[in-house]
Amino acid sequence: MIIHKAEYTTSAVNRNQYPEHSEPEIALAGRSNVGKSSLINKFINRKNLARTGNTPGKTRMLNFYHINDAFYFVDLPGYGYAKVSKDVHSQWGKMMEDYFSTRENLRAVIQIVDIRHKPSLEDQEMHGFLRIRGIPVLVVATKADKIARGQWAKYLKVIAEALELPDWHFILPYSAETGTGVEELHQAVEEILAE
Ligand code: GTP
Ligand code: MG
Repeated sequence: MIIHKAEYTTSAVNRNQYPEHSEPEIALAGRSNVGKSSLINKFINRKNLARTGNTPGKTRMLNFYHINDAFYFVDLPGYGYAKVSKDVHSQWGKMMEDYFSTRENLRAVIQIVDIRHKPSLEDQEMHGFLRIRGIPVLVVATKADKIARGQWAKYLKVIAEALELPDWHFILPYSAETGTGVEELHQAVEEILAE
């Protein structure tokens, strides 16, 4: 996949604010600070189209990015950020529920986990939630640059087991730092869009 165009379109906190279009959407879900926005930037080869940072909870809304005039990435606000108030937390739940239950353009979710850590309870819940709804989900293990390549399998197996995936080969190792996995993700997205 050659990325010839990528632009930020809009942000939304409720469904009235979603952009109106008929193109497919691929959403990115994962813990706060796991590297969702960085994954998008690397994918489209732009430094900072999606805002990234060290402060967890940077992405508080659904951010829509239009790629190649063909599809959208939807950067979802991260979950599992302990320091948010109860109100913010329930707001977050409603935003997700609304999006996943009403968005007809949604084709698949890229669920991002940190290769170094066993998926959290929230990762597991999110994964189960998507599966129950029949939403195709691709698990990407990012920050792969933090671990020696020879150790990847060991870590991917832990993730596969926690998410009840039949095989760790289903998980795509990725790094927004080095570009590992970008080509494979381009290909996976092409396949999703072709379905
Ligand atoms: P929220 O929007 O807060 O939910 O965070 P996010 O999931 O969008 O994470 P973001 O992309 O902002 O990245 C969080 C931090 O992790 C930043 O400091 C990034 O530089 C760092 N980071 C992201 N991806 C990678 C990676 O592949 N490797 C390394 N080493 N660092 C990464
Ligand atoms: Mg973000």
